[in-house]
Amino acid sequence: MRHFLNLSDAGPDGVAAMLADALDRKATRAGWPKGRVDADAPLSGRVLAMIFEKNSTRTRVSFDMAIRQLGGTSIVMDAGSMQLGRGESVADTARVLSGYVDAIMIRTDDHAKVAEMADHAGVPVINGLTDHSHPCQIVADLQTIVEAGHALPGLRVAWLGDGNNVLASMMEAAGLMRFDVVAACPQGFQPSDAAVALGRGRARVVGTAREAVEGADVVVTDTWISMGQDHAETKLAAMMPFQVTPALMAGAKPDARFLHCLPAHRGEEVTAAVIDGPQSLIWPEAENRLHAQKSILLWCFGLIG
Ligand code: CP
Ligand code: NVA
Repeated sequence: MRHFLNLSDAGPDGVAAMLADALDRKATRAGWPKGRVDADAPLSGRVLAMIFEKNSTRTRVSFDMAIRQLGGTSIVMDAGSMQLGRGESVADTARVLSGYVDAIMIRTDDHAKVAEMADHAGVPVINGLTDHSHPCQIVADLQTIVEAGHALPGLRVAWLGDGNNVLASMMEAAGLMRFDVVAACPQGFQPSDAAVALGRGRARVVGTAREAVEGADVVVTDTWISMGQDHAETKLAAMMPFQVTPALMAGAKPDARFLHCLPAHRGEEVTAAVIDGPQSLIWPEAENRLHAQKSILLWCFGLIG
């Protein structure tokens, strides 16, 4: 059984296989109508159930289209409308759904719930974001970076702002795929020691935004207020020196690219001039969620890697 709760579940070979598959399938179906099934329909007859305890645009639609393009179908549920939302256990939900569907994707708050789902499911479970990590996002980010012409070994990624779930997965990716992540986050909002340790020596935290971007090939940020967090003015104020501006981008390599998992807040974590400017790859990054999800599904079903 292949669950995808974090990038380390796939390991370097699994992640490499995902990237190769995502790039290949994307190229093969370029220009096709979005709803046309890939010629090999590798997941024909398979059903993916998705459970959302938090909002989503990209993860919801990209996974739905991913399973369709692979020849399968999906069922999308908001946890609030399920018995899960009024106290049925994650374990019981996992056992029941395993009798109906072939894979489960869940977006929730506490990472322990995804782990509990995997422990009790008889089908692959995919982490569609928890407070701890967002591995699906990082597969798409790595695809976008490779597509832009960068090899991962030797790459330098700068992270600015909140030391959050997306950063934890980026640090894990750095450890697996041998690139460097340099994060600049304000005091009180830095990644945990455990998140930095996922980088296996390739992830570190520095004091200033300027230090983080120096020599960076890719500059990444994310919302300062993640889902489930209070909108605190004190946090926004602490984050301001870490805003990604044209002046900060000028401190990275001249051809540095900008990534943001979205949704974005222009004027907070990034200025419009950067996110809507020539260095930004946010639209291919968002589209690549679709191609990356397909490769994640194929890995979970043991068809790649
Ligand atoms: N980046 C991302 O996961 O977007 P959604 O919250 O819209 O799924
Ligand atoms: N860090 C953000 C990512 C959203 C895709 C959050 O958890 O809300």
